[in-house]
Amino acid sequence: MNVLVTAGPTREALDPVRFISNRSSGKMGYALAAAAHGAGHRVRLISGPVALPPPEGVNVIPVVSADDMLTAVEKNLAWCDLLIMAAAVVDWRPRKPARHKWKKSQGPPVIEWEPTPDILSAIAPRKTPRQVFCGFAAETRALAREAKRKLREKNLDAIAANDVSRADRGFDAARNELAVFFADGAARHIPLASKAVCARRLLAWLENLVEKKVKNNSKNS
Ligand code: PMT
Repeated sequence: MNVLVTAGPTREALDPVRFISNRSSGKMGYALAAAAHGAGHRVRLISGPVALPPPEGVNVIPVVSADDMLTAVEKNLAWCDLLIMAAAVVDWRPRKPARHKWKKSQGPPVIEWEPTPDILSAIAPRKTPRQVFCGFAAETRALAREAKRKLREKNLDAIAANDVSRADRGFDAARNELAVFFADGAARHIPLASKAVCARRLLAWLENLVEKKVKNNSKNS
């Protein structure tokens, strides 16, 4: 199976030396890529800027901004059977990043913001009947409700929701706890465990989804 994973944060420039980003370390996405390689799949990992070594046997495609990540996902989309979007894509960027370093003497900058592209929404119309797309939902409240909304709105087959308001899981932690919601209405839970364990368990469910789609497709063709 061909597995495409995204990981880490994206960065949007404020001026030539400053950017806006988030606390994603890439650990969750890298664990998923390593688990997929360990399970015998071909893996491409689109990674924002992180301080992690590339997982063994995994082709890493480095990106910086949301635009870069969208381009890389689009380029690799037709290749993959399974897409897992674990990256924390920055949602907003300055409409016009300053061309020169913003000087302290100029006072605090007033920034006009615009949304970055929503990668999952942009690629949703291109999903083939054989492909499985899994997103992540990073929430600080109403975890299940928000995750189910994103599952529906982004036309996903599954979404793994994590509580990012706690220090011992989610962003930049060694462990995670996942509530996984599926498009058929099923829900499953992965209790607090290392990101490697979470990745292996989530991947096993996603492998089943891909197998089911392949079977259904062969029946119908
Ligand atoms: O990297 P770690 O430190 O290990 O932390 C892991 C994690 C907390 C980053 C990871 O488990 C996680 O939750 N990743 C998704 C973070 C996120 O951006 O969630 P969201 O709820 O804002 O977005 C929902 C989904 O849409 C995600 O799959 C996201 O990749 C995708 N998205 C978001 C914004 C955007 N512009 N385009 C997108 O495709």
